[in-house]
Amino acid sequence: MAPTSRAAVRGTHRVPGDKSVTHRAILLGALAPGRSTIGGALTSLDAKSSARVVRALGASVSPLRPEAILAIIGPRRWQAPTRPLDCGNSGTTARLLLGLLAGHRFPATLTGDASLRRRPMRRVSAPLVAMGARVDLPTHDGLPLTIRGGRLQAIEWTLPVASAQLKSAILLAGVTGGVPVVLHEPAASRDHTERMLRHFGYTVEVTDSTLRFAPTGRLVPFELQVPGDPSSAAFLLAAAALAPAGAIEVAGVGCNPSRVGFLEVMSAMGARVGLEGLDESFGEPVGTLGAAASALRAVDVPAEVAPAIIDEVPILAAMAARAEGVSRFRGLAELRVKESDRLALMAANLRAIGVEAEVQGDDLLVVGTDRPLVGRVVTHGDHRIAMAFQVLGFPPKQRITVDDPACADVSFPGFAAALAGLRAR
Ligand code: S3P
Repeated sequence: MAPTSRAAVRGTHRVPGDKSVTHRAILLGALAPGRSTIGGALTSLDAKSSARVVRALGASVSPLRPEAILAIIGPRRWQAPTRPLDCGNSGTTARLLLGLLAGHRFPATLTGDASLRRRPMRRVSAPLVAMGARVDLPTHDGLPLTIRGGRLQAIEWTLPVASAQLKSAILLAGVTGGVPVVLHEPAASRDHTERMLRHFGYTVEVTDSTLRFAPTGRLVPFELQVPGDPSSAAFLLAAAALAPAGAIEVAGVGCNPSRVGFLEVMSAMGARVGLEGLDESFGEPVGTLGAAASALRAVDVPAEVAPAIIDEVPILAAMAARAEGVSRFRGLAELRVKESDRLALMAANLRAIGVEAEVQGDDLLVVGTDRPLVGRVVTHGDHRIAMAFQVLGFPPKQRITVDDPACADVSFPGFAAALAGLRAR
């Protein structure tokens, strides 16, 4: 067989369950008194963090194992935790949980790993305090913090950043506090919480940049099938676009419009990508994504697009390293407060493997090259950085080592095997 055909990608693939949907399903399942079941749940470290914290609040959650249906039994009411709630590496767990705890009248302390303890929490605690919760926030604006929920009042709040975690925290405080919420968003962010709450009969109306929530619903046990995570699929699709030949499909992937913005950016780069066959699961569109080996060109991505590709910037920037010309990704301030300072770390790691890259203000510039990429990548434990550079190292003749490839497990258990599998069938 010729080397090119050995390196060609092919086949129909699957990715683990959507991280955002899994977190919400675990948290809401724990809050709905009775037995809920979740199929296709992500079983990664982040999902385990959500399971761990709700167990400490009185829910019973079956072990998170790939392929197993997850069963959650929500207690009649949450109990005060006897120890700090460890959210691990998961910002979504910490922030959504804060919202849920705001309507519970007991104190709870939240903590997490070194990365999470550094991530900003005041953006969440400020509106919750305005609603009536008490929060002791450390001076460094992070974790550990203690929240004591209480009787809440309605809130109208302008979000300082487009953040689904922040938006969801306030909405979930509306749920546990039983009060209306009006939010003004600087830009749309992922809307999984809104879709789920509507399913339970809550009123969530969105007009222009204003979201109105009314506590008209009731959380009852549910059965939910989690679609594949589009953010995980993005890494496989990028690997296909960067491959010397071939094409792949990733089936059963969540195609919520607020999550698949990366397809447009990939397409603007000349990547042959597609989306087809939309079904629906629990208010979420599900379909098949495809990508084929492509010649890539540079892109200039405006700041308004950033919220729609927030988790895909690392892999898009990695693709830009293989695109002809200079790419610019604008308005990425939020990337500085992710699992790592992704803006600085992407640029530094691209340079470490021989790609010219630079941070200018809040923009990331990447100069495409077709030279073999050689060097060592430092992930700081950031799963998306680890995966982006494993994808860049995937085509033949690249010599990239990633210091901690296994940290991909935070969102994509089995990532290295899935990547290798693109050539295997
Ligand atoms: C998430 C929202 C995003 C995203 C994160 C998951 C969510 O964070 O980066 O991976 O599930 O709500 P921000 O809301 O901080 O942008």
